[in-house]
Amino acid sequence: MALRSNQNLPPGPRLPSPMQTFGWWARPTGFLDRARRRYGKSFTVRLAAQDPFIVVSDPDEIKQVFTAPPDVLHPGEGTRILEPIVGPNSILLLDEGAHMTQRKLVLPAFHGKRMAGLEPLVADVTREQIAAWPRGASAPIHPRMQRLTLEVILAAVFGVRTGERLDPLRQSLTEMLDFGMNPLSLLPPARRAPFGRGPWAKFLKVRARTDELIYGEIQDRRDRGDEGGSEIINSLIGAHHEDGSPMTDEEIHDELMTLLVAGHETTATQLAWTIERLTREPRVLETLVEAVDNGDGDPYLTAVIRESLRLRPVLLNAAPRTVKKPIEVGGRTYVPRVHLLASAWLVQHDADIYPNPYAFQPERFLESDPGTYTWIPFGGGRRRCVGATFAQLEMAIVLRELLRTTEIRAGVDGPEATRRRAITVTPGRGAETILTGR
Ligand code: HEM
Repeated sequence: MALRSNQNLPPGPRLPSPMQTFGWWARPTGFLDRARRRYGKSFTVRLAAQDPFIVVSDPDEIKQVFTAPPDVLHPGEGTRILEPIVGPNSILLLDEGAHMTQRKLVLPAFHGKRMAGLEPLVADVTREQIAAWPRGASAPIHPRMQRLTLEVILAAVFGVRTGERLDPLRQSLTEMLDFGMNPLSLLPPARRAPFGRGPWAKFLKVRARTDELIYGEIQDRRDRGDEGGSEIINSLIGAHHEDGSPMTDEEIHDELMTLLVAGHETTATQLAWTIERLTREPRVLETLVEAVDNGDGDPYLTAVIRESLRLRPVLLNAAPRTVKKPIEVGGRTYVPRVHLLASAWLVQHDADIYPNPYAFQPERFLESDPGTYTWIPFGGGRRRCVGATFAQLEMAIVLRELLRTTEIRAGVDGPEATRRRAITVTPGRGAETILTGR
């Protein structure tokens, strides 16, 4: 039963919950903008059959949410729908001590030195993929970015590019990730597979095949004992719990799946949005191309990437935090079961913080770095995206290569609308783009 109490919750849309649910899913950015205009920076949203969601977008309140003690707010609970894909030990699904344990094991895989070691591999994959993209015709760039980021994450995780294990793994992962994008994956488990047939049964088959390949790879690496190198899998195999014990195969499997799932669609979509925005803003595009051509492009390129993440965050909100113990945020006390949602979309489109918030103006990040609680496309606190540095590095490599080798133009007139695709928000037409050789 959803919590009905209105006790001290901020006001919010009064539409019946099925209609709020529709707006939330079908028109998410318009829904958030309208609710803030009407009710202010925090408001209550009621989605069908769920406890109330409190959307917060004031930087001080966002800070309170991101820095709350681990036993007070549980972000892991809202992510449980991903368990069939990533497995029960995934950093995404855990809270408190168990979460911190896994996070400490995963973080070394993303340290600066390892990231620098990955750069040539990412650049190779990028060059190869972009060289093969058709020139001259208008086509959505999103699916091409998806293939590219899948290759990149596979290369980063496993180091190898082809092979008897990687080729089938690429195939089965694509099928699994497609399932994750399918609304069926959002159904409660009991509704999924009444007779062991249909899409859910097919998913279980694909998952069994994927697991076999991943466990095979873990075993091989353990046998070979090559802990060095820049591959993420080696970092996990070499990682130790605080008592000195190594990660189990199951833990490694679940974290690898988490990185493959979390690191692929998000980055592809953010790249597609960046292209969509660049092709609508000739002034920004020209400045960027010139900077890249002159070889001094990094500050402007970094600003473009930050501005894209501000203006079109692919995840509109950080992971919902479920209240476990009463907590005061913005002068109100929230009781257990309600969910607190820090909204990247709203804080990053707040005219008090960003003048002209709906315009694409990378210059705003040339002078100053993004703020911890005013620029939150990667969430924050102890749940902040572990792949944030990697994602921005990858975006820079891809944009540099694309602009060095092609001219980009919009394939359709006017901006593309935002469209919900499972939990991400993508360009409505997949960012239709025409590439011509330079
Ligand atoms: C543009 C690309 C990306 C965006 C916008 C993004 C965004 C996010 C967001 C909003 C969260 C939730 C943070 C919170 O609630 O505080 C998150 C968590 C996470 N992301 Fe990313 N992400 C991106 C790329 C990646 C990549 C490339 C990887 C890995 C290779 C990755 C791995 C993760 C993991 C493991 C978590 C869970 C962290 C935890 O719960 O402790 N992400 N990401």
